[in-house]
Amino acid sequence: MLKIISKSLDETIRIGMDLSKHVMPGDLICLTGDLGTGKTSFTKGLGKGLGITEYITSPTYTIINEYYSGRIPLYHFDVYRLGSADEMLELGCDEYFFGNGITVLEWADNVLDILPEEKLCIIMNVGNNFDERIITMKAYGDKYKTILKEMKNSESPRN
Ligand SMILES: Nc1ncnc2c1ncn2[C@@H]1O[C@H](COP(=O)(O)OP(=O)(O)O)[C@@H](O)[C@H]1O
Ligand SMILES: [Mg+2]
Repeated sequence: MLKIISKSLDETIRIGMDLSKHVMPGDLICLTGDLGTGKTSFTKGLGKGLGITEYITSPTYTIINEYYSGRIPLYHFDVYRLGSADEMLELGCDEYFFGNGITVLEWADNVLDILPEEKLCIIMNVGNNFDERIITMKAYGDKYKTILKEMKNSESPRN
């Protein structure tokens, strides 16, 4: 487990960028946390780190946005509006999960039942003040444990 405190929007973006250095095609990143905790902002950072040039927006209404301008494709889901996990299967989510890109899933808890066992789960909570976020990363599976180890080793001091 890796717990990081972010004190600003910019820091959350920076943490997303940090993660981008360690991901590989086929990786699944699940984001959980209330509205406004920074899930989309984190994804923007991840996308920026992958070299994506398009403006990354929340796929709240489209459910999924795909970006191909970076070094690895990014499949960005927001499943807040999905009625059931079955709908997620109907979207062909397995092709994304096991495809050539990174899948990021906002509100992953809504479809937990149908997610692969191996994934990186990131839980975002508001901290002690308005701009503070507690970002908790949990790895399920060896490759994600390696990612967390790498992130711990390369973590730059934040103040
Ligand atoms: N430390 C922080 N990290 C991320 N966002 C923050 C932080 N502090 C304040 N914010 C604000 O919280 C909001 C996060 O929005 P967003 O990333 O869309 O969240 P979500 O996708 O979880 O609903 C933004 O308005 C952002 O400016
Ligand atoms: Mg969002």
